[in-house]
Amino acid sequence: MQKLKILWSWSFLFSLMLRTSTSLNNITSIQSLSDGETLISHEGIFELGFFSPGNSKGRYVGIWYHNMSPLTVVWVANRETALNDTSGVLKVTHQGLVLLVNGTSNSTVWSSTMSGKAENPVAQLLVSGNLVVKDGHNGEHFLWQSFDFLGDTLLPGSKIGWDPVTGLERTLTSSRSADDPGHGDFKFRIDPRGIPQAVLTNGTVIMVRVGPWNGLVFSGATIYLRYTKILPTDHDFREKELICKLQPLDTYSVIRSVVTPWGGVQLLHWSR
Ligand SMILES: *[C@@H]1O[C@H](CO)[C@@H](O)[C@H](O)[C@H]1NC(C)=O
Ligand SMILES: *[C@@H]1O[C@H](CO)[C@@H](O)[C@H](O)[C@H]1NC(C)=O
Ligand SMILES: *[C@@H]1O[C@H](CO)[C@@H](O)[C@H](O)[C@H]1NC(C)=O
Ligand SMILES: *[C@@H]1O[C@H](CO)[C@@H](O)[C@H](O)[C@H]1NC(C)=O
Ligand SMILES: *[C@@H]1O[C@H](CO)[C@@H](O)[C@H](O)[C@H]1NC(C)=O
Repeated sequence: MQKLKILWSWSFLFSLMLRTSTSLNNITSIQSLSDGETLISHEGIFELGFFSPGNSKGRYVGIWYHNMSPLTVVWVANRETALNDTSGVLKVTHQGLVLLVNGTSNSTVWSSTMSGKAENPVAQLLVSGNLVVKDGHNGEHFLWQSFDFLGDTLLPGSKIGWDPVTGLERTLTSSRSADDPGHGDFKFRIDPRGIPQAVLTNGTVIMVRVGPWNGLVFSGATIYLRYTKILPTDHDFREKELICKLQPLDTYSVIRSVVTPWGGVQLLHWSR
């Protein structure tokens, strides 16, 4: 009995040590991430793991600012399908898909998409908060990236607009509410017709036009102009690529732009 107890406390200590001494930023196809475990990006700005938003009991996989309170989530994988319990496991398949599976039934709750083959797929949370899948640890080419499938938040390094090569349109979509990260009514996107402008839409209805681009800042961008200290050079809008992106003036400022559930576009700034 005594022996058992000692063994138990040692393994408890050992597991504690393991937990605190490892801060992974990537997983391969032989690893997985369970509810309670997280990846932390190099430099420690972003963290990826399981969370419950607001008053919800549902479990979601998301990316948030590490060590910042309140919990501020910048991306959610399974926006539409919450897990009911803590059995969820995030994995990388041998083909290079990121899967969120119900650990009890082994059924897939959410999956990334495939755009190329990988010999040794690695899913890595980058310094920018971008979750990428690449081939091997040194791969430069991303087979998939969360920055191509944005949620309601634009981060420095991510962009909305049209990719001239693939034709992919990147948009922001509001969450339904603070408790439900599912797709809400509002989209923030680039309207390429005529002089390109950023628009906030509700279905087919354009609620707000944030444009057109005048070379410095989107004219009429009253929301953005309230925060002129961190604009306008941050806002790089190139007609050719049709993108809108954020860039902080200094690397220590943490900014993000969010489409809110009630149909606002906010630019938020955190100084540390
Ligand atoms: C969560 O539970 C409800 C009922 O308890 C069930 O209908 C639903 O399918 C469950 N969700 C998942 C992802 O299994
Ligand atoms: C996982 O699957 C089991 C069996 O199908 C189901 O009862 C449970 O609700 C599921 N869990 C989640 C988190 O979806
Ligand atoms: C889970 O499903 C995958 C295929 O979807 C299969 O390869 C794997 O063996 C299953 N794992 C378990 C524990 O059933
Ligand atoms: C992935 O994590 C391992 C630790 O498990 C680390 O040694 C390796 O450098 C990481 N890969 C990259 C590309 O950072
Ligand atoms: C957005 O559209 C939906 C459906 O058409 C409508 O019910 C809702 O009131 C609209 N929201 C706003 C803020 O206009």
